Amino acid sequence: MKGIILAGGHGTRLYPLTVSVSKQLLPVYDKPMVYYPLSILMLADIRDILIISTTEALPHFQKLLGTGDQFGVSFSYLKQDQPRGIAEALLIGSEFIGESPVCLILGDNIFYGTSLPERLQRASQIDDGALVFAYQVREPQHYAVVTFDYENGETGLATSIDEKPQHPKSNYAVPGLYFYDNKVVEIVNDVKPSNRGELEITDLNRKYLESGKLSVEVLGRGVAWLDAGTHASLVQATNFVQTVQDRQGMMISCPEEIAYLKGYIDSDMLLRQAEKLKNNSYGEYLFKVLEVGG
Ligand code: G1P
Repeated sequence: MKGIILAGGHGTRLYPLTVSVSKQLLPVYDKPMVYYPLSILMLADIRDILIISTTEALPHFQKLLGTGDQFGVSFSYLKQDQPRGIAEALLIGSEFIGESPVCLILGDNIFYGTSLPERLQRASQIDDGALVFAYQVREPQHYAVVTFDYENGETGLATSIDEKPQHPKSNYAVPGLYFYDNKVVEIVNDVKPSNRGELEITDLNRKYLESGKLSVEVLGRGVAWLDAGTHASLVQATNFVQTVQDRQGMMISCPEEIAYLKGYIDSDMLLRQAEKLKNNSYGEYLFKVLEVGG
């Protein structure tokens, strides 16, 4: 499976923070925001990853992430110059996707929870239809909202999906993490721009729903889903990461650690990364990972 991280947009909700810096490069405690969705793709065993951002910001992502060798993955980079919608990422990335299924993740979405790696790996096996997640929130009107028929425990088939509805039909928001079969590269061509001129991801997902192929998996208690798109949510995400990390002495979404534990990189590569960062707690942590072993 291929992976796409969409890290575009002007981040106007975070102005003036994002006038000169891309939102997805802002710090969430001790790492650039994009490390969090990147880690999610890596936990799903996805190693061929396309980063989409604006012409202005793309060189900064390239400087930060390079070829991907340091994480044992491969990065490609493409531009989205106008904010023409989340679904456009699948058009921009259609050649990159090729014959594969694909996972799309938004660059400001942060996930954390014990059962996640297994669930992500399962989701990445998809070869027919699409899979989205459902996460209960207090204010669903800010997100895509989904209703579904429970099949068993935590999964079901979507019965409705609406983008930022004024009157939400449920409290289940759809996080910015989507798994698609390869048909998505055709189906996305049928999505028409919305009133605000964007190719809405929710319109794409509704096409899967209409053919009875939009699966929904609930992320329940024990999973944290945060988005860092506003001043308040950015601070909340930082505080969350700091609180958990300081308490446990384990990092949330450290790509070097994930790469090492998964065997994508060897101890020499991890050591090289640790040496580069040795003057701070991130580097110290990498030395600790080396000591404890995979
Ligand atoms: C986007 C999507 C929305 C989704 C949300 C998740 O909204 O349009 O469907 O629920 O991401 O973060 P945005 O935050 O870009 O307004």
